[in-house]
Amino acid sequence: MDRREAMLRELNLYPLWERRHVPESMHSVEAAVAQEPPAEVTVSSTDVSGNASVSGGAVPRAEVEDLFVAGPYGDSGEDSLREFQIKIAGGPLADVDWPELRQKVRGCELCALRAGCTQTVFGAGDEQADWLFVGEAPGADEDVSGEPFVGQAGRLLDNMLMSIGLARGENVYIANVIKCRPEEDRHPHVGEIAACLPYLKRQIALIKPRVIVALGKTAASALLDTDATIASLRGEIHDYNGTPLVVTYHPAYLLRSPMEKAKAWQDLRLAVATLQKK
Ligand code: URA
Repeated sequence: MDRREAMLRELNLYPLWERRHVPESMHSVEAAVAQEPPAEVTVSSTDVSGNASVSGGAVPRAEVEDLFVAGPYGDSGEDSLREFQIKIAGGPLADVDWPELRQKVRGCELCALRAGCTQTVFGAGDEQADWLFVGEAPGADEDVSGEPFVGQAGRLLDNMLMSIGLARGENVYIANVIKCRPEEDRHPHVGEIAACLPYLKRQIALIKPRVIVALGKTAASALLDTDATIASLRGEIHDYNGTPLVVTYHPAYLLRSPMEKAKAWQDLRLAVATLQKK
């Protein structure tokens, strides 16, 4: 089995896609899109806190802690998160460059996660990438290596990238909403997201990606400020401060629900088509 066949099997696209004979040239983004017309593209505009500027980071710890009583997205903590983001919008991260941002993340103690993890996982890849993939938070493997998506979910993400002619680090940046591993890999709480999101927003402002792919509910909720389900957010081009954003399933979810991998492939092709239209 060659590498490509392995990747297609991983994505549940083999032998269906094999029968169509996928030429070598399919490895390029253009060819991947040309394979089939893209899904209809609708544009919906959603903004975090209605503010186009990058949110800042020097947040008094007490304010963050107030939010820790709230659970993950979807419960009553959501309103607090919005108010909190408005409060910190335009803060001191707006002028921060890459080295300083790395340093700030490394030294961040805004929430309790830092005390329970081995190291922060900043993000990795091409700092001028057209493509930005955003996950939730580091897991055990990432906590040890300091790199995002290096475990089983990361291997699937690599295959997903390859399916549209991309490779990690080559015109691709990978980051998470949360930079520290939550204990027992639980979902991050709303206060943790509020504390960490400004770092991701600054990364986005520095990268200036041409398209963002939100992997899973935490990334989609945080970047689009919504509690809508992944199923309802898929298939549409959303707007993150002027950058198109496509929502798809988190690779960890796809590992548990392999039948959904074909939908993720559609989402990736929608992202490719979006980038080509720009
Ligand atoms: N899951 C994520 O969301 N991010 C990682 O870096 C690894 C697993």
